[in-house]
Amino acid sequence: MVFYTDYSLDQLNTFNIKAKAEIFIEISSISDLEGYIRRKKYFERPRFILGNGSNVLFTSNFDGVVLKNCLSGIEVLAENEDEISIKVASGENFDNFVQYCAKNRYCGIENLSGIPGTVGASAVQNIGAYGQEASQIIECVEYYNFETCQIENIKAQDCKFEYRSSIFKNELKDKAFIISVTYKLKRKFEACVSYGNLAELLKEYPILTPLIMRRTIIATRNEKIPDFKEFGNAGSFFKNPEITKTIADKLLTKEKDLKTFPIKNGNVKLSAGQLIDLCGFKGIKEGNVGIAENQALVIINLGNATGKEILTFSKKIAKSVKERFGVKLEPEVCII
Ligand code: EPU
Repeated sequence: MVFYTDYSLDQLNTFNIKAKAEIFIEISSISDLEGYIRRKKYFERPRFILGNGSNVLFTSNFDGVVLKNCLSGIEVLAENEDEISIKVASGENFDNFVQYCAKNRYCGIENLSGIPGTVGASAVQNIGAYGQEASQIIECVEYYNFETCQIENIKAQDCKFEYRSSIFKNELKDKAFIISVTYKLKRKFEACVSYGNLAELLKEYPILTPLIMRRTIIATRNEKIPDFKEFGNAGSFFKNPEITKTIADKLLTKEKDLKTFPIKNGNVKLSAGQLIDLCGFKGIKEGNVGIAENQALVIINLGNATGKEILTFSKKIAKSVKERFGVKLEPEVCII
C-alpha cells in the first residue's frame, strides 16, 4: 500500500484547482484496501474516493483520507453471438474502455464516447450522453463494503439508477469502494441517433459503425466542452432540472422559447444550459471564472480560480435562474 501525507491534488482534478489531501492512499489491489482498513487511524478518518477527478470541485483541502482508485484490468466473462459480458476494473479509464468496445464492435456504449472519468464513476454517476446511459449496459457492480468489510455484488436492477444517480450516491455513499463493473454489450450494432442533431450530423455516412458514432460524438463534445487542460472544467456543472408538467405549462406561457423534454414519470426536464444561456451568462468571464462559449452548462477555470470562487460563481448563476424561471438548479458536480 502506497500512501502519502499532505499530498497535492492539483493534477488530479479536471477543474485544475489547487488542493491537498491530508492523507492520500493509492488503491491498486484488494490487499491495499484491506491494508487501509487494518490501519484504524486512517480508516476512522473521513474518506473520499477519487477516480479521475473529472466530476469534482475541491473547495478546500481534504482533511481525511483520499483513496485514489488505481485498480486495472479487463476480462471477458461470457460471450455468444448476440451479447458479451465484460468485467472491467473500476479504476480503468472509461473512455479507453469505450474505444476498446467500438474497435471490437461491442455495441451500446459508443454514444458515451469522450467522457472523462473512470469505470467506477460510470456506475456511481450513471453517466449518460447522446441518448445512452450507463444503466442500460451495466449488468452488475462488485464493491468492497466498508461496513461489513466484505466484497459484495449488486445487480443493476438493485443499483437504484436514476438520472445521474445511483445507490452509490445515496445509501452506499462513502461506504462502498467499487472494485469492478460488468457491462453487457450487444454484438449487433443499432445506431442510436435520436438525440439532438445526431442524425443530421451522420447523414453523410451510407453505413454507420460504432467507430463512426464515436468519432462524431467526440467531435461534437469537443465543440461544446473546452479541453480541461486549457480551461479547467468538469463538464456540466448542474443537472438538467425536472419539474411537473403543470409547472412547465405555466412557465411556457411567459417563456415561450423554453425547450421541454417529457420524461417517463410524466414530468418534464428543462435544459439547464438553455436556462443559464437565457439569463445571459454564456461565454461570460468574471475574474478567474467563466462560462464556456458554446455550452452554458460548463463553468470554466480561466487560470487561477479557487474552488470557493467557482462555487460562489455557480451560486450566482443558480440564483439568477431561480429568480427568472422559479427553477432550482442542483450541482451535478460533487462539491468537496
Ligand atoms: N442549450 C442552449 N444553450 C446552451 C446549452 C444548451 O440553448 O448553452 C440547449 C441546446 O440547444 C439543446 C439543449 O439545451 O437543445 C440540450 O443541450 P445539449 O445537447 O448540449 O445537452 P445538455 O442537456 O446541456 C446533457 C448532459 C451532458 C451530455 C449532453 C449530451 C447533463 C447535466 N448534461 O447536456 O453531459 O454530454 O447532454 O447528451 O445531463 C456531463 O454530464 O458532464 C455532460 C457533459
